[in-house]
Amino acid sequence: MSQRSCLSIILAAGEGTRMKSAVPKVLHTIAGLPMVAHVVKAAEAAGSGELALVIGHGADEMRKAALKFAPKAEAFVQEKRLGTAHAVLAARAAISKGYDDILVMFGDTPLIDPEALAAARLKLAEGAAVVVVGFRTENPSGYGRLIEKAGRLVAIREEKDCSDEEKKITFCNGGLMAVAGRHALNLLDQVGSKNAKGEYYLTDIVEIAAAQGLDVVATEASFENALGINNRAELAQAEGIWQARRRREAMLSGVTLIAPETVFFSHDTEIGADTIVEPNVWFGPGVKIATGAKIHAFSHIEGATIASNCDVGPFARLRPGADLRTKAKVGNFCEVKQAIVEEGAKVNHLTYIGDARIGARANIGAGTITCNYDGYSKFFTDIGEGAFIGSNSSLVAPVSIGKGGYIASGSVITESVPDDALAFGRARQRTLAGKGKELRERFSQAAAARKKG
Ligand code: UD1
Ligand code: CA
Repeated sequence: MSQRSCLSIILAAGEGTRMKSAVPKVLHTIAGLPMVAHVVKAAEAAGSGELALVIGHGADEMRKAALKFAPKAEAFVQEKRLGTAHAVLAARAAISKGYDDILVMFGDTPLIDPEALAAARLKLAEGAAVVVVGFRTENPSGYGRLIEKAGRLVAIREEKDCSDEEKKITFCNGGLMAVAGRHALNLLDQVGSKNAKGEYYLTDIVEIAAAQGLDVVATEASFENALGINNRAELAQAEGIWQARRRREAMLSGVTLIAPETVFFSHDTEIGADTIVEPNVWFGPGVKIATGAKIHAFSHIEGATIASNCDVGPFARLRPGADLRTKAKVGNFCEVKQAIVEEGAKVNHLTYIGDARIGARANIGAGTITCNYDGYSKFFTDIGEGAFIGSNSSLVAPVSIGKGGYIASGSVITESVPDDALAFGRARQRTLAGKGKELRERFSQAAAARKKG
């Protein structure tokens, strides 16, 4: 099948307003990726090399956004929203190039399964002219019904055009269609607009093809394949389904999720086998985790690379550019941004590390802060291998601590410290014998005097 050429046409014109948003509907995200990009990914996974994106008039934002996730896609503008067949024909120039298979998908139906696409393509390869991916539902209202006669698909009837009898049909059009390239333009050009909505319905090609004696086939896929997003409640529903799929995939690939329903992945999270993820962990975009890591509860991780056997959290925040090497530890209430934590280094408690390198096996004490920002620019802190930073120290960047350097607790370090040196950056302690007692007496007498008068 892979030898067959394939064009995917993704319809994304005709926005509803129900998202109540300044952002075009299909750019709303699921797992951090615009829903239309999910459709693009599915098309690519099903072996579709070419992409045509049909957008509405004035959809410049869409066009720009599309370039990011589908640089190869060609955008076509449907000037007026005259129906799904009309929208497909906006990409006439692409269709005319001649493809074996043409897939039509909707930009607001993000959970389509590449396997459903591949199954439809297989039917085309076996000789079908039109393949409709259907699904069964107890509540078919709003969907086009698949009309079968003697076990053969003969038409799709839109809800508004259905007879009462037809409305009872529960086998519905999921919106995903595959058309043999050599028949596509011929069929599409015959579609008229005599129906309840006065639109050019893509679904009419089924009846047209069947009447010409061409082979028309319905396949069946799960409901998710047809889940169209029209408002933010449906967006959240799709997010839930996506996350459930991804969690299962992670677990089957060897990742332990103790409470899977509380772990949220990004579309691009990479996570190795034997990693354990405790409850309530959030992965933003760009996270790569190798094998055998432990991600403790309530950690928030984005743009971070975590090598094997690292230990993160609980309550850790790893921000973009956090790069933890083998067996590094970032513990509770620590934030790491744009910093390398080398092999075996420990950042265990209540610490901020930003714009820094922490050498192998260095120990960063509780409450250490890299002061990386002066309100205008960011500066770098370099901490050498095996250094020890005493608790509650501030390292005012730019500054470096040499290999094996030792910083006394509570220091404010403004000058670089050479290898193996000991640095105190705090006032020397004074201890005055008996003065504590004397002070207490003075204070208590003063308080008593105030009470009296
Ligand atoms: C469509 C199908 C219906 C199916 C349902 C599944 C048709 C005629 N009907 O109905 O059988 O059960 O999807 O969800 O195809 N669009 C354009 N330009 C247009 C019209 C639509 O780009 O002129 C795009 C929309 O942005 C949307 C998609 O096509 O992404 C579907 O259009 P919509 O009007 O939502 O079709 P439905 O009535 O839901
Ligand atoms: Ca719809």
